[in-house]
Amino acid sequence: MSSRKPVTLHRLREMHTTGEKIAMLTCYDAAFARVLDQAGVDVLLVGDSLGNVLQGRPSTVAVSLQEMAYHTACVARGNSGAWIIADMPFGSYQETAEAAMRSAALLMQQGAHMVKLEGGGWTAPTVRFLVDRGVPVCAHLGFTPQSVHALGGPRVQGRDEGSARTLRCHAEELAAAGASMLVLEMVPAVFARELTQSLSIPTIGIGAGAGCSGQVLVLHDMLGLAGGEALRFVRNFLDGGGGIEQAVTTYVADVKGGRFPIDAVHGF
Ligand code: KIV
Repeated sequence: MSSRKPVTLHRLREMHTTGEKIAMLTCYDAAFARVLDQAGVDVLLVGDSLGNVLQGRPSTVAVSLQEMAYHTACVARGNSGAWIIADMPFGSYQETAEAAMRSAALLMQQGAHMVKLEGGGWTAPTVRFLVDRGVPVCAHLGFTPQSVHALGGPRVQGRDEGSARTLRCHAEELAAAGASMLVLEMVPAVFARELTQSLSIPTIGIGAGAGCSGQVLVLHDMLGLAGGEALRFVRNFLDGGGGIEQAVTTYVADVKGGRFPIDAVHGF
């Protein structure tokens, strides 16, 4: 049982305001939830990346709402102090705002404190609908894995002026619609830093450089368990020994101390 005060939305906002970096990791079960919570990870993301790392699928597209609900409940049982975000899987929020509300309600009933959905533009009214009904929402822009086929693979987004302008506009719309947090995936470090400085809500980077308000990695990537060649923005925190608890403790310390990520090594 972790002895810290539970992380709340208020606390996350305070961290953003005071400049304390937010340490987030993905988590899919109770055993890891306990380890991550005790190591001081601020936010556990029940990511639909479980489709890749747990189910061995090539993408997140086939992950179902029922699977997300199951893993969210597992994580909630192992956690006591971290903030829990659950991913809304592909197909569970695109159709109507009402469908999104039903999906979000199920995930929150399993223990999520916030839900995350991917994309900008068309998502802003859905975010507003959820927020007005008491659902804290994290948005996700840049490379959005559920759109992997539409985007032509895991590519850096926002490299040219036009697409950077669109991303910025989407980020501002989502913040105005009430999103409380924004994940930025695979965008240039300079762009993410500038956007973070101008937005009122915290940004959480993954392949978005050191200038974000916090960082997230897929747990299996940062423990070197994912197989294959690691993406540029991944660091294996288990390298050099020390065990899983030490790896997670080092991750938290390095995110908060500004030692991870390093733009020149992990950025685009
Ligand atoms: O599903 C996931 O793990 C995510 C992260 C890559 C941010 O959405």
